[in-house]
Parts: sequence; C-alpha cells; structure tokens
Amino acid sequence: MIISDFKRTKDKLLFTPGPLTTSTTVKEAALIDLGSRDSAFIAIVQQIRQKLLALAHVESPNYEAVIIQGSGTFGIESTITSAIPASGMLLNIVNGAYGRRMSQIARIHHIPLIELMYDENQLPDLTVIETLITENPEITHIAVVHGETTTGLLNPIEEIGEIAHRLKKTFIVDAMSTFGAYDIDMRALKISYLISSSNKCIEGIPGFSYVLAKRIELEKCKKNVRSLSLDLYDQWSGLNTNGQFRFTPPVHALLAFNEALIELENEGGIEARAQRYADNNALLIGGMEKLGFTLYLSPDVRSYIITSFLYPGHPDFSFEVFYSKLNDMGFVIYPGKLSKVDCFRIGNIGQLYPVDIQNLIDAVEKVIHEMNIVFTEQKKQ
Ligand SMILES: Cc1ncc(COP(=O)(O)O)c(C=O)c1O
Repeated sequence: MIISDFKRTKDKLLFTPGPLTTSTTVKEAALIDLGSRDSAFIAIVQQIRQKLLALAHVESPNYEAVIIQGSGTFGIESTITSAIPASGMLLNIVNGAYGRRMSQIARIHHIPLIELMYDENQLPDLTVIETLITENPEITHIAVVHGETTTGLLNPIEEIGEIAHRLKKTFIVDAMSTFGAYDIDMRALKISYLISSSNKCIEGIPGFSYVLAKRIELEKCKKNVRSLSLDLYDQWSGLNTNGQFRFTPPVHALLAFNEALIELENEGGIEARAQRYADNNALLIGGMEKLGFTLYLSPDVRSYIITSFLYPGHPDFSFEVFYSKLNDMGFVIYPGKLSKVDCFRIGNIGQLYPVDIQNLIDAVEKVIHEMNIVFTEQKKQ
C-alpha cells in the first residue's frame, strides 16, 4: 500500500499496549515545524518536564524530569546504565518479558545482577525480596516493572518501595504502561527513578521516553557513564543549563505530547483517565467472558491496562486468522508474549471509549462464528 492509500483509509482502533490510538488534536499538534533552539519550543519542553513531575506528585529541584529521544527501552537503558555504579549491584524482580529486558540490559553492560524470577502470573514474594537483600549487602539498586504489559499483571510497588527505603536501596520502577493511568506518588512510594514513554497512558505519539528521578540520585550518575547518547546525567545537565537537547530532539512528538498533557487535564487528570480505562476494561472482560473466553490472570493481580485471553483451545483456532479478520474490520489486537501459554492480548488504553469496546466485542463475536470456534477447557499453566 502506498502512503496516499493510507491517508484515504480510516484510522484503525489500536487495542494494543502502544503506540495507542490518539486524538486528532494530539496528532494535529505535531503539524508544526519548530527549530530545536526556538524559544517557544524550549518553553514547551520546560513546561512538559514540570507537568510530568506534578503528575508524579513531586517537583524540581528535589526531583527532575529528563526526556530521552527514542522509545521506552531507551529510557530504561539510560537509567540502568547511568544509575548503577561499577561497584553496585542490581536486584531485578522479574515476572514477564519487560522485567527480563531489564536484566538483558544489565548483562550487556556487565552490571552485577541478581534476578528474582517468578512465573508470569505470579506476584513476587516480599519476604523473599527482603531476605535476598539482607543476605546480599552488595545490592545497591532494586528494579521492577509496575504494569507487566506481557500479561497485564500489576506488581506491588508500594510494598517493594517500602522495603527498598528501609534497607536503603535505590528503587527503579518501569512504569511504562501505567504512568498517567495509575496515580503514582513518587515520594510516598519511595521511588528514585520512574520511567515511561510518550505513547502510553499520557496518549501522545511515539518518539521519546522520560525518566523522573530524585535529584540526589541523578547527581550520583555523573561518574557512572557507560554510553554517550544514553548518559542520563549529561542529558539532564544539557536540559537544565540551556533547555536544549544534546542531540536532535523529537520536536513534533514533544508538541503532540504537550497537547496530550492538556487533554489529560481537560479529561479530569489521572483519576478520570483511570476511571475511563477501568470502565473500558470491565466492559471488555465482561463481553469476552460472555463469548466464552478465559482470562489468563486472576483478578487480584490484574491491571486495567491490558488483558491476556487464553486461546479458545479449539483445533481450528488460528491467531493469525483471528487477528487478520479483526484487523480487516478496523480493530488491531495484540499477540501474546508468554513463554508457556498460548494467549492473545487486548489493550484498552488510548483514545478508546465504551462504544469502541462494544464494537470490538461485536466484531470478535462475528469472527469466532465465521471461524466456527467452539470453546473447550484450557489449562492456564
Ligand atoms: C512495561 C514496559 N516496559 C518497557 C517497554 C518497552 O517500551 P518500547 O517498546 O517503547 O521500547 C514496554 C512496551 O510496551 C512496556 O510495556
């Protein structure tokens, strides 16, 4: 398909973990060319940084927001490689693919690492975390993913933050798919570093990630540099000294994000957005269960961001066929990412409303009838 054909087609609805469906006004905000040294652009960047801190209930100078060009992983890699000194050690609590990715980053950069591994539907054991830290005093940093987008599981960051604080460890939270949709008070939750990106629950377009960090922690990063472009300290000092990025900034994505932040405020802030996502999620789960689908996660560990559904357990079920039929009808869902179980995922974040969820459920019903799918019992793990 050539690009002019794309322009003629209606946007599909993205029931994915990102990039997400965004508002027309957010996309339109990107339709301006601004130089990276333009004073209007520099002012917008400073405003975005302040608003991000405010969303996390903190402010400068005790906390700082650093914007990093690239996707969410760039922000995570920047944080891990800048925060942990050569003499330090990372305890990474893992129950999904994004947790595994943080370990991969640590290994690539030869950062000493202890991994605490769990199944993808299991919450970490807090007593084990505490014992492990006590028995390994060389641990300096603890990392965990808040919303494990692999499954939709929500990790207990409040409890882990309390342990980190009590045992004087630096706490790193990958809040990629939750920030903006869950109210996260960085100070109260004892989070030293929180990472998310432009195209998740703030509902901007892709192009950058951001790291919200405690200033005293950021200052320690100066001596830990392992990468030029991902040097969190240098990126921060660049933004703080003259408001400019060290390298070409994602100008259009930042303009769109500025609009997305205004639209978040207009919606009623995080509380209202959380409610819309939770309502979407309840409708989605109710509708899919009524059709016969089974959820992978139990209710006590689930977030309202994305939901994993087991394959129907019918020999004729093909995810590729299911996906393409829904795609042809304008609904984009997401494959599973689980190591042991066949699942697919449906996200309900972004510019999606109950009517969109209902239309998706109606489309799923139509497709499973066309595919002659009959549900049979399926084992969860
Ligand atoms: C929890 C989490 N961490 C990290 C990432 C990686 O972000 P990106 O794909 O933007 O690099 C994602 C992406 O969905 C995510 O959900």
